[in-house]
Amino acid sequence: MAKPTPGLDDFESLRVLGKGSYGKVFLVRHKDSGSEKLYAMKMLRKEHVLNRNQVEHTKTERNVLEHVSHPFIVSLHYAFQTPKKLYLVLDYCPGGELFFHLSRAGRFSEGRTRFYICELLLALEYLHSLNIIFRDLKPENVLLDAEGHAKLTDFGLSKEGICDNFSARTMCGTPEYLAPELLDSKGHGRAVDWYSLGALAYEMLTGLPPYYTQDRNLLFERIRRAALSYPQYISPVAKSLLQSLLERQPEKRLGGGPHDGVEIRSHSFFSSVDWEAIYQRLVTPPFKPKVAGAADVSNFEKEFVDMPVVVSEAGAGPGVHFDGFTYQGEQPGTVMGL
Ligand code: ADE
Repeated sequence: MAKPTPGLDDFESLRVLGKGSYGKVFLVRHKDSGSEKLYAMKMLRKEHVLNRNQVEHTKTERNVLEHVSHPFIVSLHYAFQTPKKLYLVLDYCPGGELFFHLSRAGRFSEGRTRFYICELLLALEYLHSLNIIFRDLKPENVLLDAEGHAKLTDFGLSKEGICDNFSARTMCGTPEYLAPELLDSKGHGRAVDWYSLGALAYEMLTGLPPYYTQDRNLLFERIRRAALSYPQYISPVAKSLLQSLLERQPEKRLGGGPHDGVEIRSHSFFSSVDWEAIYQRLVTPPFKPKVAGAADVSNFEKEFVDMPVVVSEAGAGPGVHFDGFTYQGEQPGTVMGL
């Protein structure tokens, strides 16, 4: 029997979780799922996508989301459109952004950092095995589920990701996590993700990304050339991992060889890690987000959750149809394997 096409009417919008120039992310409830299932619904303005010549890119990214299935990557459940908007209905991660917790904690211990880096490493290795380079790893793109496991989100569909041109003048967003070869638009491979993983690990351990300065031009200059300082409290083994991931030459970088992430897994920073247990989600997360009830949004910025919930078709918009965008995933209860 053909499944009915999903649409906006099937979802009740409960709260705003995030907002950018691209559109908004809402916490929604699927109306007729007996299970009261909650999702994160990402609304993208078609005008925004068209103005950036990102139509093909957006469709590709939506296809990527349809095909990925991994314990540490957000799953796509439904996709549909209205005349002015595109909607993606994704796993809801009630723990919010890792960034939210990092800014509260200041910095994370080496144990906690290792846990998140292990899960993200497996997610990136999996994407690479599908010939997908993530390119946009940063703390805002890492969410925590209810138990405290990491989930990667945003496949080029977010504010910064939608910008495909990474040249220093035209890129959008901040370059803190971008590998040096991306800054110079030299052509790049999957090793860019290992640099970003190193930058993320550095920020988790120290509280700031590598080479941090508010001066954008100086930041570019430092990413290309400056010596990086490591605080005293960083252990020698953690420092060694960071240095080998933040190596400027992609071919010399840890993970830059033919074995990709496997090379990183064998670094001594991970000597205590049971990778199969990590993959099976058998390792208890070092931090469990406080989630009072299914619809508790206390792990999201007040600035967003206090916004009025309006899913509107008002304002200017192109009314163009995006062929092949609609999607209805597996029904709840269906087991999805690798
Ligand atoms: N799932 C996908 N994006 C999300 C977000 N921004 N917050 C919570 N869960 C999400």
